[in-house]
Amino acid sequence: MSHHYPHLLSPGRIGGMALRNRIVMAAMGTNFAAADGHCTERLIAYYEARARGGAGLLVLETSAALWPSGASMPNTVGFSDDRFLPGLRELTNRVHQHGAKIVAQLNHSGKMAQEDTAAGRPIPVPSPIKPSRSDMFNVLTGDEIAHFIKGAAPDGSGPNYYEMTPEHIAIIVNGFAEAAARAQRAGFDGIELHAGHGYLLANFLSPYTNRRSDHYGGAVENRARFLVETIAAVRAATGADFPILVRLDANEYRIEGGIRLADCVATARLCERAGADAIDVSAYGNVAHSIAFTEAPLVHEPGGFISFAEAVKHAVSIPVIAVGRIEPDVAERAIAAGDFDFLAMGRKLLADPDLPKKLVAGQEKSVLPCIYCYICVSQIFINKPVCCAVNHNTGREHDSDLLARTGAPKTMLVVGGGPGGMECARLLAEQGHRVSLWEKDADLGGTARIAGLAYAPNETLVHHLAGAVHALPIALKLRTTATRENIAALDPDHIILATGARRSAPDIPGKAQRHVFDGDELRGLLFGNNRAALAKLPPLQRLVLHVGRWSQILRNIRLLRLLSKLWMPISRDVVIIGGGLVGLELAEYLVERKRNVTILEPGAAFGPELAIVRRARVLHELRAHGAVLHKSVEEIEIGARTVRFSLGGEHQELACSQVIIALGAQPDDSLLKQLSAGRAQVHQIGDCRRVGYIDGAMLDARELVQRLQQEC
Ligand SMILES: Cc1cc2nc3c(=O)[nH]c(=O)nc-3n(C[C@H](O)[C@H](O)[C@H](O)COP(=O)(O)O)c2cc1C
Ligand code: SF4
Repeated sequence: MSHHYPHLLSPGRIGGMALRNRIVMAAMGTNFAAADGHCTERLIAYYEARARGGAGLLVLETSAALWPSGASMPNTVGFSDDRFLPGLRELTNRVHQHGAKIVAQLNHSGKMAQEDTAAGRPIPVPSPIKPSRSDMFNVLTGDEIAHFIKGAAPDGSGPNYYEMTPEHIAIIVNGFAEAAARAQRAGFDGIELHAGHGYLLANFLSPYTNRRSDHYGGAVENRARFLVETIAAVRAATGADFPILVRLDANEYRIEGGIRLADCVATARLCERAGADAIDVSAYGNVAHSIAFTEAPLVHEPGGFISFAEAVKHAVSIPVIAVGRIEPDVAERAIAAGDFDFLAMGRKLLADPDLPKKLVAGQEKSVLPCIYCYICVSQIFINKPVCCAVNHNTGREHDSDLLARTGAPKTMLVVGGGPGGMECARLLAEQGHRVSLWEKDADLGGTARIAGLAYAPNETLVHHLAGAVHALPIALKLRTTATRENIAALDPDHIILATGARRSAPDIPGKAQRHVFDGDELRGLLFGNNRAALAKLPPLQRLVLHVGRWSQILRNIRLLRLLSKLWMPISRDVVIIGGGLVGLELAEYLVERKRNVTILEPGAAFGPELAIVRRARVLHELRAHGAVLHKSVEEIEIGARTVRFSLGGEHQELACSQVIIALGAQPDDSLLKQLSAGRAQVHQIGDCRRVGYIDGAMLDARELVQRLQQEC
């Protein structure tokens, strides 16, 4: 066997469904369906790619059993009518062609049914909804707030809830059963009942939202009655052999009196007794708290829910599926130890649909890593189609085959070895072009190296892309600056400029002082390669950095991240001017290293470039570590030991020993101007065209390569 995953890659079984391995693609809403609930080619091609990539089982995204009622996204797959059958059949056929199985996640979103709110339809709940205060408004930008307000019912009145009677419950149970029978007729291998994540079935399971005094409320057996009746009705409608999976929450974070592990374990037992074939163990976090989403279901802590799956596994004899940022090697050991039976992955399969196939082939090092930037799920938050920051083919599988070999190879020069440049070089080389990649620094990565220092997952991407560049026939030249002369010598057909942004600090009074660093200087300081920045340091610090640089230690991001916990040339009390992506990630890095950080942001919002969910997490972490954040700050002035500014018309003064100006990133088109007179076609991608950081650079690379593919 050429791989290291004998248990994870061994065949498995859920009820009568035989699976080629233990890898499950977790349900993920995409917004790829048509607005009328039909499957689109985009949606089908996206799932087909994950089936081709080798997963044993795909769980279709949250789908509305009673469509349009109960939908949480504007583009939700419908199961409520036979008119949906042709598209659903096409989907299951295409998935089956690649040896994967697929189950439909049937749901009613209950109090989270945004589409019912937007359309003014009444929304079923077990008990009257308790008012709750949200801190989300501290995180959202003005545009985002406007977007959410727009979705609050046609007359702006908000959701119209009604307390369900037993008759209402019976109608929905029946709706689930009919939808399951339809899924069976459409060729699905089973269904997953979504009884988690704050949706309707979970609203009954949760003692917080279910305060009924009839036989659907109170003890766990009563709270689970709706779910148990649904399982029984689905079983009756689909026969003995149709697998029924149930997704449960093992915890409701930040909900006092919500579901706890003991409830989940008891409910799992009841589900098993009612005829369920597997339990998929997830969790939920109260979305009124901006941080909660990264606690659950999109757990930030690696393997954060494994102990929940273990507890359920001990209580039932049907298979248990674990989920939540679990690495394949961790799952391998856990499955071997009998802690759970299947590994569900969400984000990792958005980033690299071929992950399972690569594990089988012993090529785990070539897996494109998720960088936990939360862009995918933030798209769903704002009702947009899902995408992936590191893989812009996700959701465009129907569009074109970017890796198709070209019949007309061209000479391509990519200037700049950041993520956009590397991705562009990789795609062009895969297509068979003659590719050169020039980078002025000694290492690939560009500003993503500093992003990698600040946020470790970013480094995995730099590492992955650099590995791909080295593995392909790409003529890589480091420490090479592009000039008219060396470009003329290469005589390329196309020049792709991926040279990044210019980072010169705006004119803030006092910025010329020795204790003030701009973005480029700071980067040079941390990597020890910027003379101007080093010259500002005291002699001893300079010496340490020279030694670090001479010994090559400062080239290793991972090591640098570790060493910087012991020492770095940043003093105790730091003011960061600029609360955008760069300033926030830098602050996160500094507070983790016990620096006292104050952020002064001239604009009205922090980190608008960060995806909502990641932004919420960073802001929460910063505040929890004691960082002070001020926005809408005016009249900033840097003194010798202080920074003065005005806030809401009031003048303030802060003591500090170092100031970092994380403002002023501008697209840099200087090279474009120099080169546009030559024979080659010149293109720009990434921050030198439009500041868009890793996500923008990767997207630009893909779009340019696609355009060139169509033209060549
Ligand atoms: C973009 C996105 C959409 C999601 N939509 C759903 C959904 O429709 N139904 C569901 O049960 N969970 C949904 N989830 C949660 C995932 O199924 C999974 O539990 C979670 O992402 C944790 O797994 P991971 O760390 O492997 O990504 C979604 C997650 C993401 C990233
Ligand atoms: S968008 Fe970010 S978090 Fe989501 S799958 Fe892609 S890399 Fe991971």
